[in-house]
Amino acid sequence: MTKEAHFSSEFKETALFAPPSLLKRLAELEVSEGLTASTGAKSSDASLPRHLVNEIVKVSEAYTRERTDLRQASSSRGGLRARLRFFLPRDLPKAAKPLFEAAARGALPQRDRLRILDLGAGLGTTTLSLLRVLHLLGDERPIDVLAIDRDPAALKIYRELLSKPIEGFSEVTSVRVEEGDLALLRGPAGGPLLRPSERFDLVLIGLAINEFGRKGHEADLLALFMDSITGHLVEGGLVLIVEPALRKESRGLMKLRDLIAESDALEILGPCMHRMPCPLLLRERDWCHDSLSGEHPEPIRMLAAEAGLRDSRPTFSWLLLRKRPAGEQSTEALGSNSPQSAEILRGRLVSHRLASKGKLEVQLCATTGELITLRQLDRHRSSENAVFDEIARGDRIEARGERRNAALVLGKDGVVKRL
Ligand SMILES: C[S@@+](CC[C@H](N)C(=O)[O-])C[C@H]1O[C@@H](n2cnc3c(N)ncnc32)[C@H](O)[C@@H]1O
Repeated sequence: MTKEAHFSSEFKETALFAPPSLLKRLAELEVSEGLTASTGAKSSDASLPRHLVNEIVKVSEAYTRERTDLRQASSSRGGLRARLRFFLPRDLPKAAKPLFEAAARGALPQRDRLRILDLGAGLGTTTLSLLRVLHLLGDERPIDVLAIDRDPAALKIYRELLSKPIEGFSEVTSVRVEEGDLALLRGPAGGPLLRPSERFDLVLIGLAINEFGRKGHEADLLALFMDSITGHLVEGGLVLIVEPALRKESRGLMKLRDLIAESDALEILGPCMHRMPCPLLLRERDWCHDSLSGEHPEPIRMLAAEAGLRDSRPTFSWLLLRKRPAGEQSTEALGSNSPQSAEILRGRLVSHRLASKGKLEVQLCATTGELITLRQLDRHRSSENAVFDEIARGDRIEARGERRNAALVLGKDGVVKRL
């Protein structure tokens, strides 16, 4: 398949989900790392070990409710097993989706060699998300990774996992792991964890900020990004932050995004298509998040069901930042433009599809910085606006309709297209 075909409408997001080759490798690693439980007790589905299901439940509860014992739950032998066999493949598509979008928009750094810094790298999910995307793009550049985490047991698995090629993933050329607390990164030199002269093309921070920035420490995080991460990014380098699609964690990321928008040091490539204050911060009940269409592969779906997790669609929140090369014009609206008239709006869908009597509505975070309701009456559906039936949360679209206050109404001549 050509690179162009990868970006065409034929591309299905399910390509970003864990392929069988990865699931096989994770099962092998569970055995070689001595993580397999000794008893063979089975769950109600005879092919699923009850121990594994219980461990998934424990880690999940620690992630969502009982934050105090998260560290213990996630780095115990059982916790590592649950992360390896379930959370890693389940979370793989999350960072992959924004990375794929960045590639489709031509925003991935173009250098001959990619130097990746994975912060809070854990077992390697976020690095693997990138390697999956690069493989799907046919991108065969050499890749050097530095993974930092405070958990040595997780880093041991990280190194092991990346030590052999996995079918369907690009290969890394070199792997370095550093055990340490991310708080040490604060300050312009990056503290003891980074060499002062070290520069990266891409910094990945997957599902980790909420674990160390929980008490409303946005200002601390900002200092960390501005001084340290930015200082270690090449010009044109990217920072991708992925967080759970929970209200508190996502709103923390949105606040961080507003602080970054105020300071002007980094471009915001997504999800926002503007630099105005985030309109979703206005109402406490809102939070910006994304999702993937499609379902996880069978073993992951079954494990989720057995563990009582409602997880048919991966959801997550994200922020993609870019260090603008000196002298370059703003590319803030990469792939988007200001509206050509009051009736044409561009933006990203930030809600699911809300169907009610005789109409369908979605929320658009428009390039104008406004939150707009896109509305279509069922009787106005036509071949011209058929895309309206397919668009989903996270899509970047252009819509033409009639503006009524904070709504854009797609009459029978209304047009919707994906960007
Ligand atoms: C939920 S895991 C995410 C792992 C991986 N990035 C992913 O996306 O699945 C969070 C990781 O962040 C690490 N972590 C949390 N707080 C940290 C801190 N203050 N310093 C270093 N690592 C930290 C944890 O040890 C854990 O491995």
